[in-house]
Amino acid sequence: MSDHDKIYSTKFQDAVERKTVLMFVMIALAVAVGGIVEIVPLFYLPNNALCSSALAGNDPTCGNTQHIGKDGSVIPMDKIIWNPATSAHKTLEDWVPGDGVRPYKPLELAGRAVYIREGCYLCHSQNVRPFRDEKDRYGHYSIAEESVYDHTFQWGSKRTGPDLARVGGKYSDEWQRRHLAYPRAVVPESVMPNFAWLADMPVNVAETVQTMKVLTIMPFNPTPKTIYTDAYIDGAAAQLEGKTDMDAVIAYLQGMGNHVKFEEGVNYRD
Ligand code: HEC
Repeated sequence: MSDHDKIYSTKFQDAVERKTVLMFVMIALAVAVGGIVEIVPLFYLPNNALCSSALAGNDPTCGNTQHIGKDGSVIPMDKIIWNPATSAHKTLEDWVPGDGVRPYKPLELAGRAVYIREGCYLCHSQNVRPFRDEKDRYGHYSIAEESVYDHTFQWGSKRTGPDLARVGGKYSDEWQRRHLAYPRAVVPESVMPNFAWLADMPVNVAETVQTMKVLTIMPFNPTPKTIYTDAYIDGAAAQLEGKTDMDAVIAYLQGMGNHVKFEEGVNYRD
């Protein structure tokens, strides 16, 4: 018997590896246990994002997990998710970066649809992970509340290009316009495709207005009707008039990642 044939594993492992059906059963068991460990907490952990925000419902589990400030006190969710009732800025037009996560304005919503249609997510993630190199490169790591109005979220899993979660305000609108039309005009080594035609495509007004209506009736974290009021939705078409898909996608990019004012020394839950 050569050294090659010696069984170094336990008898149990040897048996499992030689019997396909047993192997299958063991794998199914392992996956089931792993799945349960991941899924069960979702049923009892609080839906943190809802608590004391504009989205607050009657969730009895509210307040169990929180962001804790420097002095050990709980950071009110209003500071994270914009709540017109408690904020100094009452409408989407008055909202300024730092007021907290807000729903999309009509033009941004149209841009988001373009982003999805054109498959930008295939090359760009929107999720800064809590690792030092990512924080150094992109900024503060993403927190769950930042995705609260995203149906569907655009976290992505592929980074042919950089993460875009904090790209808002990083460049001027003009830079974005030139870059999108022909990326190599501003980044010579870029492999990103040209999207020049977006400048010739008028935004889809009817679809965007319809999307706003649907967002107010989503089963999870719908946009509050106090923010997307009937009057606001009625006025959306006027805001979209004469705009192109290029304008829309730029508005979407410029609104990314600057909603929450992250404070030094606070340990935000990721
Ligand atoms: C084939 C992959 C690919 C696709 C699809 C793609 N990009 Fe890119 N993108 C890149 C690469 C690579 C870079 C980095 C080089 C550069 O800046 O052009 C980049 C850079 C960017 C940047 C600059 C980011 C920064 O922080 O410097 C923005 C903004 C951007 N892309 C937006 C978009 C949008 C919007 C779409 C969809 C309309 C899109 N991209 C589609 C690959 C892609």
